[in-house]
Amino acid sequence: MNKIECKSIYKSFVINNDVLNVLSDINLDIVQGEKIAITGMSGAGKSSFLHILAGLDKPTSGNIFFNNTNIAKLNNVSLSNIRLNNFGFVYQFHHLLEDLTIEENIYMPAYLNNSLDKSKKYKAKEIMKTLNIYERKNHLPWKLSGGEKQRAAIGRALINEPRFLFLDEPTGNLDESNSVIIQDLIMELSNKHGIALIAATHDNKFVGSFEKIYKLVNSKMSILNE
Ligand SMILES: Nc1ncnc2c1ncn2[C@@H]1O[C@H](COP(=O)(O)OP(=O)(O)OP(=O)(O)O)[C@@H](O)[C@H]1O
Ligand SMILES: [Mg+2]
Repeated sequence: MNKIECKSIYKSFVINNDVLNVLSDINLDIVQGEKIAITGMSGAGKSSFLHILAGLDKPTSGNIFFNNTNIAKLNNVSLSNIRLNNFGFVYQFHHLLEDLTIEENIYMPAYLNNSLDKSKKYKAKEIMKTLNIYERKNHLPWKLSGGEKQRAAIGRALINEPRFLFLDEPTGNLDESNSVIIQDLIMELSNKHGIALIAATHDNKFVGSFEKIYKLVNSKMSILNE
């Protein structure tokens, strides 16, 4: 079974000679299929934690094991391979590439790990249909609504069939009805394909659908519901 294990993660930033400790001694395991929510006030360190966990940033100290590989100590090429093959990341502000169409944005992770063949293109089509954005596939991102863009970003995160899907406030910028559509979709995809979810969210209703709920306070992580 695939697993991510964080061992004593610390992260600090130096700002004008002051040290800001954002994460202190975080220990947390996630197994395939598990659903985890990370809560905490604005500035608590949720995004920083997700970035480190997903290999997008390095901890100041500590280790993150993906199966038996310590991704905190890996070089960029190997890390990139692990990320492209196993992790999907949905950013708070979607980060779609503005010069590429919706379809091309969704192809991108497959292009990057040389898996963009006929069957991947077919898969992209199926994903776009599930996400209800197939009609918009030839449009550039700016033509889409916030909810559609976020669905496209989810599609991009799913194209390489990740085992772990990281979501940073995936519905933070959406109205309530669009939020519910996207939240239901995320849960359905996770249940259907056994994808682990690790989501930073402020949304109390959404938080309720996760198996484990963690809270970051004063750089420490505690579990709220065990
Ligand atoms: N690269 C950086 N350099 C300096 N400080 C940073 C950096 N990234 C984050 N921080 C600081 O670390 C703290 C945690 O930021 P982070 O973005 O992880 O919080 P968050 O919990 O995701 O907040 P929000 O709910 O507003 O998204 C903040 O005080 C932020 O200003
Ligand atoms: Mg954040």
